Amino acid sequence: MYQLSNLKKAIKKLLSEHDIDENIAFRISSIVDYDFQINNLVKYQSHPNIKQIITSIEKIIKNEKAIEEFEITEKYFINLKINIESFLKIYENIREVIKIHNSNKIILDYGGPNIGKPLHVGHLRSLNIGRSLYNINSLAGNKVQSDIHMGDWGMPIAQIIGYLEKHDLDIEKLSIDDLEEVYPNASKLYKEDDEFKDYSQSINKRLNENDKGLIKKWKKIKIISTESIKKILNLLNHNFDIWMGESDVNGLIPELIQDLDKKGKISIDNGAYVSNFKSEPKILITKSDGSYLYLTTDLATVINRLEKNDFDKTLYVVDKRQKLHFEQLFDSLDYFEFEKREYEHISFGTINDANGNPFKTREGDTKKLSELFEETCHYIKKINPELDEETNNILANTVLTFSDLITNRMTDYKFDLDKFTNISGKTGIYVQYALVRAKKLLKSSSINLNNVNLNISDFDESDINLIRGLIKFEYYFNLALENNEPHHLADYLYELSNLFNSMYQNQNILENKKETIKLNKLMITEYFISYSTLLMECLGLVPVKKM
Ligand code: ARG
Repeated sequence: MYQLSNLKKAIKKLLSEHDIDENIAFRISSIVDYDFQINNLVKYQSHPNIKQIITSIEKIIKNEKAIEEFEITEKYFINLKINIESFLKIYENIREVIKIHNSNKIILDYGGPNIGKPLHVGHLRSLNIGRSLYNINSLAGNKVQSDIHMGDWGMPIAQIIGYLEKHDLDIEKLSIDDLEEVYPNASKLYKEDDEFKDYSQSINKRLNENDKGLIKKWKKIKIISTESIKKILNLLNHNFDIWMGESDVNGLIPELIQDLDKKGKISIDNGAYVSNFKSEPKILITKSDGSYLYLTTDLATVINRLEKNDFDKTLYVVDKRQKLHFEQLFDSLDYFEFEKREYEHISFGTINDANGNPFKTREGDTKKLSELFEETCHYIKKINPELDEETNNILANTVLTFSDLITNRMTDYKFDLDKFTNISGKTGIYVQYALVRAKKLLKSSSINLNNVNLNISDFDESDINLIRGLIKFEYYFNLALENNEPHHLADYLYELSNLFNSMYQNQNILENKKETIKLNKLMITEYFISYSTLLMECLGLVPVKKM
């Protein structure tokens, strides 16, 4: 906490004089009258010097101007109430407050679409969480690069080409709709027809040997696919800094394997290369036919990034069903003695339908993201037929993003448009509406708020509640940043919007006879607008202009 970092330091120093090593952490106070709580002392109840320590802590806190009131309970919970006046001054520029001291260079690997297949519901959470973590980290001052890491190589491509050849389909005339039809058919045939399987495998082998004719076909497929992926990403307001994929690192694999073999890190077992790292199950590096695995490509991707990108840390925002894959990857990076960096799997649960089953179309296929977006647009338009197209699109993205991010990422959730578009529920529509109202209030007041002073003594309960809400920004921001969990900020944005609405609905602000009260409320509204806008940015939401 920016303004209280000195307080934290002072308490830490005091404790160290008593041989206690503690990093002082703030939590949200469980007691209504207080803002924050320090729980570090609770476990030292039977420390021989505890009484003396507490007396010294009391002195330290009394000297901190930013604290208005505090109490230390019998069990040594410390409850703190922040002085509103000092808070409002320091936290006027919230964007500065949230900058961290030791910035990091981070690669965010998310999205991960596969060519030949449309973006579908399964990609939504990776995209939402990835974008949010990108924004949160950038706002904290970290240097972030996003890499979409396309699945653009390997068996699926070979199957597609094999199928096109077998059915004499002209690749030059192929549209994205054709392609999306081909892939499921090809993959089905691969499972059912041994001859086709052999044929696809031979194509895969020739692709890996850089067969010119096949590479040309692959390129064409990649172009068609990428175009369509970019189109839908654009609609959903996603951008990527790096457009690398599996195909870009395929060429690095033979040398990698040779190297590992020489270093004695892998051995041949039944024709396959297996890592000598002791694990259950064993980690497979190549298949017995010599072909590469998902893991092999991810190892090569790290080699490539170490060479080309300057980074301290990579975050992989991928479905929790890939837990074992990332455990094996991280264990291997360590065991194979790759240059040390930090790696983390940011995993997440699935989106289900109203009955709790995986979300599908009526025909039983995985639902395409483009369809989901369209359906959401229609649904919103039905509720509010006057919406213009731009606002309609922004609101559809708001719904698809907010309802996704408000759920703890590890939890599965049910997709329910009725619930997600409820203007009085815990929804993206609700938070957008609160912000529109706040902006409208300031605009219709036509008062210049520069150089206006707040009159603390004129605050009523709803003003104070909102300010006490604003005080928590930095806390939730850090929570989201440290745990890679955007839901804290989605929850908090809802809470603030609620507090603003209570203040707003309490009375007609512009009609208030007392000028100081009116100015107070307009000033806090301005705080709310900047906090809410920043929270939307953290979540990847675009504020609508009107509603
Ligand atoms: N394309 C992969 C899939 O569909 C996701 C890629 C995730 N990123 C990674 N570096 N493995 O499962």
